[in-house]
Amino acid sequence: ISSSSSSSSSIQEKRIKRKRNKKAGKDKRSEFIGMAKAVDRGQWSVVYSPGGKDGTSFVAKSGLPDKTRPFTVLGIESSCDDTGAAVVRSDGVILGESLASQHKIHEEWGGVVPGLAKLAHEEKIDVVIEEAIQNAGLSSIDEIDAIGVTVGPGLEICLRVGCNKARELAIQFQKPFVAIHHLEAHILMARLPPQKKEQQSTSIDIVSHESNCAIQFPFLALLVSGGHCQMLKCLGVGRYSIIGGTIDDSLGEAYDKTARLLGLPIGGGGGPAIEALAKEGDPKAVKLPIPLQKRKDFDFSYAGLKTAVRTTAEKLCIERNVTSIVELSHQDRANIAASFQNVAITHIEQRLKRAMDLLENDDQIKTLAVVGGVAANQELRSRLETLCTDQSWQMFVPPPRLCTDQGSMSAWAAIERLMVCSSDSPENQKVHARFPFQQQQ
Ligand code: KG4
Ligand code: ZN
Repeated sequence: ISSSSSSSSSIQEKRIKRKRNKKAGKDKRSEFIGMAKAVDRGQWSVVYSPGGKDGTSFVAKSGLPDKTRPFTVLGIESSCDDTGAAVVRSDGVILGESLASQHKIHEEWGGVVPGLAKLAHEEKIDVVIEEAIQNAGLSSIDEIDAIGVTVGPGLEICLRVGCNKARELAIQFQKPFVAIHHLEAHILMARLPPQKKEQQSTSIDIVSHESNCAIQFPFLALLVSGGHCQMLKCLGVGRYSIIGGTIDDSLGEAYDKTARLLGLPIGGGGGPAIEALAKEGDPKAVKLPIPLQKRKDFDFSYAGLKTAVRTTAEKLCIERNVTSIVELSHQDRANIAASFQNVAITHIEQRLKRAMDLLENDDQIKTLAVVGGVAANQELRSRLETLCTDQSWQMFVPPPRLCTDQGSMSAWAAIERLMVCSSDSPENQKVHARFPFQQQQ
């Protein structure tokens, strides 16, 4: 009895402390309201609009590769915690890749520490590029026809490592240069032709490029990653219209925070850890509220679910007479993981179904692309596949390893940009922590 009351009182104390902190935080936040509004208006952000005001007036600022024969692009990605490089051919064949993950570093610190991530990128960038070139069977960067690099959104000091390296190489070797938008790169991965063992067609003009792609514009994209949770109407390269987004946390963030709460190893991302544990749990064991039931719109919210998981887990601690969540049995934690995942995906299904109805009626769109790191999740993939079958929609999702960040996404996005005759100037290219799409009609 005494241990039960002490565990319950320690959890009660934690709750009171949290409430107090929340209250203090609220007062503090009021000082920043004006600034937050300024950010919301986007006055500090550069907008991504490669096709100019009308969305289709592309300019090849650093030239284009010779498109009468297949060309190769070196893609570089360093927006968060993975240093990636890849060489992709214009017909979509991935010729060579290399990825240096920072899992071990971030495992130790319980998440991504920007300063450490930047140092790790600096340490690995040359090796990763060299390895990708070698794996592609090329002997030097001079044999590459163009270079694409992620310039935002992401962690500014990390983006700068990849961007500066790519600018340097593009200037030194005089190659066309493409500044890649990370979210567009995730979205366009749904169009990457399926990888075939044999070499594909050598015809790569714009018409054959379009028909060679796995899906054609327009389509609906569900983008679920660590930093974003959005639904977008995708009209063409550089032309996106955001239908809904998260009002607080992203889905990837919710997975990562829940994994941390349950004391799981999060070095490889909390998502895979929750997915594995959830397989051993009962998704109906723990009752959790589905977010935004009263708001019949297209937005997402995961902050409330995260709090509900924590309070439910704490209540279970009292019931089980343990002092912390990590001390709960494996089965209890598996049940929490499975129940969290079930509700998180139900929320996606509900919002997606509403967006599908809208786009089918207004735009005759019946194709869904599921992209971003969380799209690697098998449970999400299979449940959305069922939803699409029920709605007579087609669904496309990249292979799991191409859903999370890697170099091929920058290379393929660069190919898509070069195909519409769009490139950037490497001389004065900046990186953008925030990088909203120019909203299309
Ligand atoms: O796209 P991504 O690699 O990086 C960003 O652009 O944010 O996405 C990373 C996110 C992380 O939150 C990670 O936990 C999540 O994707 N993730 C998963 C899975 N694999 C990665 N979430 C759920 N299940 C997975 N299998
Ligand atoms: Zn990403």
